[in-house]
Amino acid sequence: MTTAHESPASEAQISVHWREEDYYQPPAKFIGQANATDPGIFRRFDEGHFPDCFKEYADLLSWDAYWHTTLDTSNPPFWRWFVGGRLNACYNCVDRHLAADRDKAALIWVPEPEAEPTRTITYQELYRQVNEFAALLREDCGLRTGDRVTFHLPMVPELPVAMLACARLGVIHSEVFGGFSGTACGERIADSGSRILVTTDGYYRNGQLVDHKAKADEAVRTANGLGQPVDKVLVWRRHAGQYASRAAMVDGRDFFVDELLAEHHRAVVEPVSMPAEAPLFLMYTSGTTARPKGCQHSTGGYLAYVAGTSKYYQDIHPDDTYWCCADIGWITGHSYIVYGPLALGTTSVVYEGAPTYPDAGRVWRIAERLGVNIFHTAPTTIRMLRKLGPHEPDNYDYHLKHMTTVGEPIEPEVWRWYHDVAGKGEAVVVDTWWQTENGGFLGSTLPALQAMKPGSCGPGVLGVYPVIYDEDGNTVEAGSGKAGNICIRNPWPGIFQTIWGQPDRFEQIYYAKYCRNPKSTDWRDWPYFAGDGAVQAADGYFRILGRVDDVINVAGHRLGTKELESASLTVDQVAEAAAVPVIDEIRGRAVEMYVSLKPGMAPTADVEHAVTAAIEREIGKIARPKNVWIVEDMPKTRSGKIMRRVIAGISNFADVGDVSTLANPEIVEEIRHHIQGEKLAHGEVPRQLTREEADEIRAFGRDA
Ligand code: WTA
Repeated sequence: MTTAHESPASEAQISVHWREEDYYQPPAKFIGQANATDPGIFRRFDEGHFPDCFKEYADLLSWDAYWHTTLDTSNPPFWRWFVGGRLNACYNCVDRHLAADRDKAALIWVPEPEAEPTRTITYQELYRQVNEFAALLREDCGLRTGDRVTFHLPMVPELPVAMLACARLGVIHSEVFGGFSGTACGERIADSGSRILVTTDGYYRNGQLVDHKAKADEAVRTANGLGQPVDKVLVWRRHAGQYASRAAMVDGRDFFVDELLAEHHRAVVEPVSMPAEAPLFLMYTSGTTARPKGCQHSTGGYLAYVAGTSKYYQDIHPDDTYWCCADIGWITGHSYIVYGPLALGTTSVVYEGAPTYPDAGRVWRIAERLGVNIFHTAPTTIRMLRKLGPHEPDNYDYHLKHMTTVGEPIEPEVWRWYHDVAGKGEAVVVDTWWQTENGGFLGSTLPALQAMKPGSCGPGVLGVYPVIYDEDGNTVEAGSGKAGNICIRNPWPGIFQTIWGQPDRFEQIYYAKYCRNPKSTDWRDWPYFAGDGAVQAADGYFRILGRVDDVINVAGHRLGTKELESASLTVDQVAEAAAVPVIDEIRGRAVEMYVSLKPGMAPTADVEHAVTAAIEREIGKIARPKNVWIVEDMPKTRSGKIMRRVIAGISNFADVGDVSTLANPEIVEEIRHHIQGEKLAHGEVPRQLTREEADEIRAFGRDA
């Protein structure tokens, strides 16, 4: 849903209010060792060298056959990269590192219970496990190149093993985030046409051994109901030989992986040489309609893109200990825990549990213990770590050279804590903007060569040329102070190939809006519509304001939820903030702010006033919130995003929708009781929303 029809003002006429921030320079020590230090790299990747510049990324891989065409645009917008090339993604992430690095840790898995030992999987061991599981998939499940398999796996090392085993066979994997419900998993099984489900009996999260297998039964039932039978459910066991779930194993359908693997001991499966454009995996993401979109990613283009961006933007060297504290069930984990780091032959840390379990020092203890020198996470985790342990990093002897923030806009206040406290002022920070659909980063600073600016992701990455368009397709100039829709003018190798089974929807959602000529085979006529609002400063840096449906239009002024939240976070006591729209008879929409406080802070009227004052100061009176609500905690997804639609629903006395996938569903009733109680006590008379209003509130924010 765009805001265009809500207001006669075009995007370009709506100003964005956000203060300019000062630059931070990368530390000299970082520059001294960085992968990209020659500014000539910008020339190599400029538009004059497109698309051949991406040869540099593709050459990081080992090809069975080199390609003849870098980019084929003959059937837009279905771009084909490295046409004629053949390779195997698993070979590139595992086999080719054996000669020099067989004993090096590929994965270090950290279980959530601290008493349980860390598990180190060398490249040699990974090779063994992947081969054996590939043999199982091929022989026991009959899987062949092009088939789809669904995984519903949490953060266990078996997940990367399963992904790589599929890649070895040319089988398309589709991992469903472990925190999703069985029903959500079943819908994705059906959509992808998988007849095999790979799951686990349980995993640890916040000190609990979660019963996960129960969801598999629900998933199979749902898939069956949608006409997709599931032949086999493969169940890994969290503790070998012990079954941790209360759900019964179904005879003839459910199998313990450890038992089946016994038959494949020492198996060797030759990697299948795949065309560069063969699909590698599907990753589902939600859109504005109920049906999830299976983003289909390619083998050659995707792997080249994540390898290249891992090298230059994550600054991964083979001897780094790299930790991306995200979930492999999201695109970030696929690209920047598994495929990118392993393609470069580095050591990638995988952590099972919650970042703040058993306390706010856990993340920093892991960093100290393992000698992590590159750390990567999302603003929500950063805010949570800051809230629960603002000085905790001081207690641990770890040293980072590089840090990443990804997935949401980060408030400058929070950015500064990440840089100064979590990074001890020693690390370069990149704010990487991109999406499930994109395969890898779209916007970021190149860490040794471009200064950081809190709250801005930076310019387009190498070989990616973003532009901001208004609703009519006019370019919104850098430095104009106007927001619009950020688009990418060109294809890049990591772009998804299509929405699985829905090519028309693919074209419609991402290309129709700004396509200049549907008959043209020139990529310049096909800008990619990202669905994010953004503003570009005079220096070329982009600030991402959030999804175009994350914007609150108050009396014709476009207010990014993030601007409001950022302003609120300048109040000392505030730990987290979320802005939601409430239907307002006079101004169309008004803003309500929800804030949670740092430990030990009292929820007083003074804090509420301070938040309002901060918003007026940072943005202007126009953004003055109708209410500021202080809550214990925010409703969050398992990946840590605040579910704004849930609080928007509460603020509007509307349906909050499905809350079953929340990390903390119990908080919803508590907030509803508190907020609606206060509203009623203040004499607010709830009214039935119109259908359009209800739809808007339900669609507010992007949940998963
Ligand atoms: C948002 C996550 C601001 C954006 C990789 C995008 C960001 C959506 C950033 C995609 C960032 C991602 N700054 N916003 N650095 N990174 N986003 O598909 O709205 O889970 O469209 O991919 O997250 O979320 P997704």
